[in-house]
Amino acid sequence: MPLLEIKDLKLDFIANDTAARAVDGVSLDIAAGETVCLVGESGCGKSVTALSIARLVPTPPAKYVGGEIRLNGRDVLKMSQRELQDIRGGVVSYVFQEPGASLNPVLRVGAQIKESLKLHRQNLGAPSTASASSQSTHQRAETVLGAPTRRQALDAEVLRLLKLVGIPAPESRIKNYPFELSGGMQQRVMIAMALASEPKLLVADEPTTALDVTIQAQILDLLRDLKQRLGMAILLITHNLGIVRDMADRVAVMYAGQIVELAPARELLRRPLHPYTRALMASVPKLSGGAERLTAIPGNVPRIGNFPPGCRFAPRCPIAKPECSKAIPELVEVESQRWVRCPFWK
Ligand SMILES: Nc1ncnc2c1ncn2[C@@H]1O[C@H](COP(=O)(O)OP(=O)(O)OP(=O)(O)O)[C@@H](O)[C@H]1O
Ligand SMILES: [Mg+2]
Repeated sequence: MPLLEIKDLKLDFIANDTAARAVDGVSLDIAAGETVCLVGESGCGKSVTALSIARLVPTPPAKYVGGEIRLNGRDVLKMSQRELQDIRGGVVSYVFQEPGASLNPVLRVGAQIKESLKLHRQNLGAPSTASASSQSTHQRAETVLGAPTRRQALDAEVLRLLKLVGIPAPESRIKNYPFELSGGMQQRVMIAMALASEPKLLVADEPTTALDVTIQAQILDLLRDLKQRLGMAILLITHNLGIVRDMADRVAVMYAGQIVELAPARELLRRPLHPYTRALMASVPKLSGGAERLTAIPGNVPRIGNFPPGCRFAPRCPIAKPECSKAIPELVEVESQRWVRCPFWK
């Protein structure tokens, strides 16, 4: 059973009694320890899809219209508020492009991380009660004296996490407020906070876009390393093909609320099959320094509520035929592990 199983997810935004579909039948699995990259132009529904995993899109204006989101085998769309609180942080954590979205400006960074630890790591610093009765009085006394208190264990864990994300001299940093840190350091604190709960799935929505190239590389190294050491799965949203190449096991390409191509990363990069993926990759400016942003396909992404009939990419597609505008093509497995929503991909 995959760690995350999104099946036929449909989400509308409702304004003035009119519903506009932003996520339209998205299905996506992520296995434990796997990294899946979600790519596509601005407004395609990447963030909304990612936020849905912990039901974080506010309702209203959103409405979950259909589908299932199974996280650890349980349907997030059917959970109570209480159950949602438990999985948020507990099973899935988020890192956003803007640290401001996660960090509380009036709390010192050490205290913020500690809050997350208190909530999600009940066992930290707790005496191991299981074997206490079988120990001699002497041994028991030793355990009590030698073991750190909960408070000490929490403090030590805060420092360990800050070191883990590469924050120098964390002992002095824990007293800082977020505004006293640089953008790169804030981003690291946000990652430390996301990791504090030891999530099974980390959702990172353009986590390095706002950072300079060196810091960006360091943070991606860190994520790769953590994934390996903690066996954490990652859903990574990015506009950067270099990042896809470095990080992804598989890639899902979204267009106008739908997945149009899904494939192992190496194969997709070597031989994109959907005309949209090809256009995205052809439009990559060949810059040095790894700034390979996906941009500039002629025309625009259609706005939600205003999708063209049939294939939504047809109006911009170089190989479109008249029948493309009649019915939405199915997402079909055209080769082993390679899914494409275009009958004319060949
Ligand atoms: N709170 C909201 N209310 C109404 N519409 C919204 C809301 N949030 C997102 N949308 C719309 O849903 C669509 C998908 O948005 P989403 O943020 O998922 O795009 P994205 O693929 O993440 O784009 P970007 O690359 O710019 O981050 C867009 O048309 C957006 O305008
Ligand atoms: Mg987004």
